[in-house]
Amino acid sequence: MSYFVINKSEDLSGVIKVQGAKNLILPLMAAALLSEGITIFENCPDISDVRYTIKILEGFGCRVDFYDSTLSIDTRGFNPCNIGSKYSEKMRSSFLFMGALLSKCKTAKLSMPGGCNIGRRPIDIHLKAFREMGVKIAEDRDEIFADARYLRDAYIKLDFPSVGATENVILLAVKSNVHIVLDNIAREPEIKEMCNILNKMGAKICWESDSRIEIYGVDKLKPVRARVMGDRICAGTYITAVGLCGGDVIISGIDNNSLLGMSDIFLRMGIEITNNSKDSIRVRCNRRTTNLTSIHTEPFPGFPTDIQSPLMVLASVSMGTVRLTENLFENRFRIVNELNRMGADIKVENNVAIINGVDSLRGTDVRATELRGGAALVLAGMVANGVTRITGIQYIARGYENILNDLNKIGGKIVCHME
Ligand code: EPZ
Repeated sequence: MSYFVINKSEDLSGVIKVQGAKNLILPLMAAALLSEGITIFENCPDISDVRYTIKILEGFGCRVDFYDSTLSIDTRGFNPCNIGSKYSEKMRSSFLFMGALLSKCKTAKLSMPGGCNIGRRPIDIHLKAFREMGVKIAEDRDEIFADARYLRDAYIKLDFPSVGATENVILLAVKSNVHIVLDNIAREPEIKEMCNILNKMGAKICWESDSRIEIYGVDKLKPVRARVMGDRICAGTYITAVGLCGGDVIISGIDNNSLLGMSDIFLRMGIEITNNSKDSIRVRCNRRTTNLTSIHTEPFPGFPTDIQSPLMVLASVSMGTVRLTENLFENRFRIVNELNRMGADIKVENNVAIINGVDSLRGTDVRATELRGGAALVLAGMVANGVTRITGIQYIARGYENILNDLNKIGGKIVCHME
């Protein structure tokens, strides 16, 4: 088992280049199935969620090469009989293949995606939208069988702007003989970018408004070469590091517009974020940050739930008290106990964490139990007095290509030990 040992880090400086976005490359790997030939994605992050998804694609008979951040997916060997590879149970984002598989094979059987450490992760919105398109769905405890041989035009308004449900409906509709109006869609930047890339492949997706699209199904999609946008959640994690440790850092490979929802919060807490170039920002903080009275997570363009744990660390040492409300996932306060063991003062009432900022945290042994909480504990170790040891770091590798290198490049003091 490997673990991180982290010492207090101060006055960060230098340049971090942000990896490609995990929450864009995963749906794109499903989208690649819709074209015949070799699709290439540049700036693909080398994270374990991508590695698992590669195994799912290889399980379907695709040939996948991944070298030097370039992912190439050759779908000419696709074999529908292989569906349901053992890896698909491992990851809920494998359910993102449902839309693409139904489009390609007309029927599909996939394992019921389990919940994860942050919540139940239901798929009712996905299934309701599929049924409104004419998909016949049978589900039992473990599996879902879907039949998309008789699709129909539909106006679908999602009950909630679910990222995954939006992606699944788009992936089913783009290459089916249907006209779909999809309303109340998720507005995350990754969705817009996925649609732009699908349109490059020959899809006909038109934006009626920020939250409504029209999809005119086409017969064929062609393979493309596309570049994955920077990961805004990694960028937000590193902005938080500057707020905690102080300093002056350039974060490159990121579009400032994709930071909507979080940059305003950081700015109001006292972290200065300015445009440095068209794809880089300058982040400065030279004083103790100040808590806002209340922050709540919302779908984009609100404050992103994936930055809630890093922000909890920042709030725990900022001046004043904040009520931090988590509206997206029911179990996303998993680092509260660990932070309180480091000297934080956090109380939880249902989905609200009341955080009284303390002067400092103290290093101790802590354990990561999920992706963003794990990254947040790394930040806590960087601001704590003394030494912090973090186990469970495999969770962090699901979404961060190399958080240790990235943060050490700007002055972090993180060492990885293998036991
Ligand atoms: C995506 O998850 C991201 N994952 C998550 O990132 C992110 O936190 C989330 O969107 C919200 O932005 C990927 O893109 C791979 P949702 P997804 O469907 O699609 C409820 C990370 O750390 N819901 O928008 O699963 C659901 O319970 C991960 O990178 C239903 O009720 O999120 C949740 O409360 C974590 N029924 C809310 O909607 C459904 O059918 C948001 O879920 C679907 C969702």
